[in-house]
Amino acid sequence: MEIASLIKDFQTIFSSTEEPRVFFAPGRINLIGEHTDYNGGYVFPASISFGTYAVAVKRSDKKIRLYSKNFEESGIIETSLDNLSYNKTHDWANYPKGMLQAIIKDGHEVTSGFDVLYYGNIPNGAGLSSSASIELATGVLIEHLYDLSINRIRMVQLGQKVENHYIGVNSGIMDQFAIGMGKKDHAILLDCNTLDYTYAPIALENYVIMIMNTNKRRELADSKYNERRSECERALKDLQTILEINSLGELSIETFEANKHVIVNDTDRKRAKHAVYENERTKKALEQLEAQNLQAFGKLVDQSHISLQHDYEVTGIELDTIVQAAWDEPGVLGARMTGAGFGGCAIALVPKDQVDQFKTNVNAQYKDVIGYDATFYMATIGDGAKEIKL
Ligand code: GLA
Repeated sequence: MEIASLIKDFQTIFSSTEEPRVFFAPGRINLIGEHTDYNGGYVFPASISFGTYAVAVKRSDKKIRLYSKNFEESGIIETSLDNLSYNKTHDWANYPKGMLQAIIKDGHEVTSGFDVLYYGNIPNGAGLSSSASIELATGVLIEHLYDLSINRIRMVQLGQKVENHYIGVNSGIMDQFAIGMGKKDHAILLDCNTLDYTYAPIALENYVIMIMNTNKRRELADSKYNERRSECERALKDLQTILEINSLGELSIETFEANKHVIVNDTDRKRAKHAVYENERTKKALEQLEAQNLQAFGKLVDQSHISLQHDYEVTGIELDTIVQAAWDEPGVLGARMTGAGFGGCAIALVPKDQVDQFKTNVNAQYKDVIGYDATFYMATIGDGAKEIKL
């Protein structure tokens, strides 16, 4: 979708002759470090070139009018600065409303409303964080339209707050961080305990990152997600009876192994094992990448999937089938699910000159078992949320 045509759409839909401003926030993939963020561990995500465009003009009254080209059937959703609380019938528009409310509550002055048109090219339900993308697109839009100066990490935290308290999904900080802080051609190693982070150049020589969409929507994902969180919290509580720790992310593998017997429930112990081992793998992954040891990096990626499949149990037949098919392809460095799991996308590190063959073979194997096609996209790692200067 051309930006010029989004501007035209904005002018038509809002019967406006003004020149709007254009903002963009990406989606994200996570290379490794899954279900570690809310356990106080490391994650290693990157922002991608798919994302959400927000085309907006400031108004002089208090009206807020929101339109999404992805939900055209909802038409223009209208509210005002005095009415920003959650409203079920506003559906997708609760994300931008929540973000605006969070920014105002954080002490920033917004005295007039705006008209905004959104368009997202992140595949819906694919687990590439379309919701965090709308939140951050709205965050930069508000920051720029009202000449505010919002610390970017604060904006990221506000996005997470919206998700947790306004929308009611108990997610960690990874998605908003990756999207708010993303950098072209880099992944971010983030310590979710301290929010210390390092950018790592993604130089994969002759390999590309292929995103494989199972086209299985992440239904049920939220309840299962919250269940995993509680299982980890229970495991932590048990460990705290003998260890002075605040999160599973503080544990080395050795300390975990020496103390895991105090975790009462077998399932909770498996969940905690994943969190601790995945955290170690994530730190190692950066080291291997820096050492240009791509084979070793790929092995860690594979192990991550195996752990998510057997210990954390968040994969499912679709993700397992597509990852297995990717592993079966010669030359593939590694493959794993990415994001929350239970459907959505996986990633694979594929030799550049084998991309077509990879897609054909993986799709054939996938369709054979699952009965419908997967979709493949080449991941391009782009910048975080920003205004697009016209
Ligand atoms: C979702 C959440 C993130 C993170 C991942 C799993 O994407 O929004 O906070 O927990 O799942 O790693």
